[in-house]
Amino acid sequence: MKIALDGKIALVTGGSTGIGRGIAESLAASGASVAIGYLSDRAPADATLAAIAAAGGRAIALKGDVADEAAVRAMFEQLDALLGPIDILVNCAGIDGRAALSWEAEPAAWKNVVAVNLFGSFHCAHQALARMTARRRGVVLNITSVHETIAWSGYSAYTASKAAVSMLTKTLAQESAPFGVRVLALAPGAIQTAINQAVWSDPAALPDLLQKIPLGRMGQVKEIADLVTVLVSDVGSYVTGTTVFADGGMTDYPDFAHGG
Ligand code: BGC
Repeated sequence: MKIALDGKIALVTGGSTGIGRGIAESLAASGASVAIGYLSDRAPADATLAAIAAAGGRAIALKGDVADEAAVRAMFEQLDALLGPIDILVNCAGIDGRAALSWEAEPAAWKNVVAVNLFGSFHCAHQALARMTARRRGVVLNITSVHETIAWSGYSAYTASKAAVSMLTKTLAQESAPFGVRVLALAPGAIQTAINQAVWSDPAALPDLLQKIPLGRMGQVKEIADLVTVLVSDVGSYVTGTTVFADGGMTDYPDFAHGG
């Protein structure tokens, strides 16, 4: 079995940091030409481009807010012009928002989480699928979360948006399948990145998190990134309309290891 993405053109939103950066590096290492989408901070995007180039890969950076439909349209026009027609879209741009009980949350902040995670995924899929269905090839992979199925107090916008992306995935997959285009989701568990640094860097908080993970450890970016590469490659050719969980067992109800 060989994972070969040579000649493939990929866009990874949120591709300059965290899981997105790992995905961009993994796709490029497998031969894809990669565009990394970033919101505004150029330095991490440049660092990711440099890492990809140093490893012998090819990548460009595209600036744009996925929550903004016009900006996404412009990003795809740039992608067409600079690399060519898209084969692989990974919707990874996402935010969890500030923790707040729902009745205390600031509605504008709540809506912003949904705007980035759900509308952002839709805007990019909207552009990508128009191109992919016309060419009868392509894959869209949405990064959701274990919180597409596990409730999380303080994060109602995040959980609602991830559950919505899960169902968006299924419906887009149904629409796209007759055109030979796959749409799927990958749900990471607790992967050690900046988004959850407050937990893994706090010796008082970490044991509580680890207790929620049957494998007893946080995941690493590479464990998600390489799995994404497999799923969007031809090795994943029969996977569509579903979410693949990579969570160390977090969704396996670890509390039921005893009692019940
Ligand atoms: C969140 C992380 C969290 C993980 C498990 C992810 O979706 O972004 O902050 O550690 O879920 O709860």
